Amino acid sequence: MAPFRVMKVLRRANELSAQGLDVVHMEVGEPDFPTPAPIIRAGARALSAGQLKYTDARGLGTLREAIARYYQTDYGLDIDERRIFVTVGGSGALLLTTALLMDPGDNLLMSDPGYPCNRHFMTAFASSSQLVPTTAENRFHLTPQQVTENWNPRTRGVLLASPANPTGNVMADSAMHQLMKVVSAHDGYLVSDEIYHGLVYEPRGGGVHSGDLKYSALHADPNAFVVNSFSKYFGMTGWRLGWLIAPLDAADDLEKLAQNLFICPPTLSQHAAVAAFSAPAREIMERQREEFRRRRDYLVPALRDIGFDIHDMPDGAFYVYAGIPEGYKDSEPFTEWLLEEHHVAVTPGTDFGRHLANRKVRFSYAQPLPRLSMAVDRLSQAMRGQ
Ligand SMILES: Cc1ncc(COP(=O)(O)O)c(C=O)c1O
Repeated sequence: MAPFRVMKVLRRANELSAQGLDVVHMEVGEPDFPTPAPIIRAGARALSAGQLKYTDARGLGTLREAIARYYQTDYGLDIDERRIFVTVGGSGALLLTTALLMDPGDNLLMSDPGYPCNRHFMTAFASSSQLVPTTAENRFHLTPQQVTENWNPRTRGVLLASPANPTGNVMADSAMHQLMKVVSAHDGYLVSDEIYHGLVYEPRGGGVHSGDLKYSALHADPNAFVVNSFSKYFGMTGWRLGWLIAPLDAADDLEKLAQNLFICPPTLSQHAAVAAFSAPAREIMERQREEFRRRRDYLVPALRDIGFDIHDMPDGAFYVYAGIPEGYKDSEPFTEWLLEEHHVAVTPGTDFGRHLANRKVRFSYAQPLPRLSMAVDRLSQAMRGQ
């Protein structure tokens, strides 16, 4: 299994910080904001009340009800609670889905570039990811034609993420529908990673932006496996909580897997997460979303000005996937140089696949604007050879 390179960059960046250097962290994939106070208070109440025993393997009933209500209010979808599994982060949901769907030798189609751990989950179950190179013209998403061309007898389905990591791009609703048609024509599964939902900055057809209903793969395919998380929009990375929505006929098998692999998701985090859907918490998250938009709007033109190649404005998440300026080394030595000499930590494209990976880097803008501006100054000096 390949390493998760961003964690290596993070470790080195932390070493440099420990030596007293002021490193700007643009490698991290987590919001810089603290967990919203209403969630922390709910967690503290649960802690004082000693609510710390195992829960149902599928998660607390109250939390699963709150998730079902969220799908009603935010997506206009009625989800049977028996289909909802609270998990250890979106990672737990991806692990359960992989364990359920993949037999040794099977493969799942994925975009290259894409989130690295998905490939590695496949490896853990002796199955594989079939990485399909995507293009900037398709906003680095798989197309229905590519799915058809790359499907083979051992393909079980397609995994997609929207907004995606590392690109931040959203797949258009119509494209998702087309893709789903191809997948179901092959009798395959659609696995949709929606963990950056809520962090979308562009209005688009079908309306994923605030104020409108959000769009889920469940609109295209009610039998899709949908992965979501409290980590990103809800600001709860370290609480390790996410969820999976699965077809009802998969629920019994998933429950057995969840019981055996995890016993249950973390109890304290589950009590806290019930408050994540409250109006005061949502208000905080919406303000943070606006702040992320401001940062994106600052960073993308600033990076373009100093020579980074960014094909389109990313729609969401908090990432910019950029081509490194002409004349520079491959992305790994390039990011090492930026970190060691200029103290800006950035993730090399090689973390996300093979296609053009040597020429790409990912910037995370989960940092306050003054820090981003400091990073841009340092990068600009670096590019001018100072
Ligand atoms: C696309 C994607 N999926 C899943 C995850 C897993 O996150 P978590 O387990 O914290 O929910 C991440 C984390 O960065 C991600 O970027």
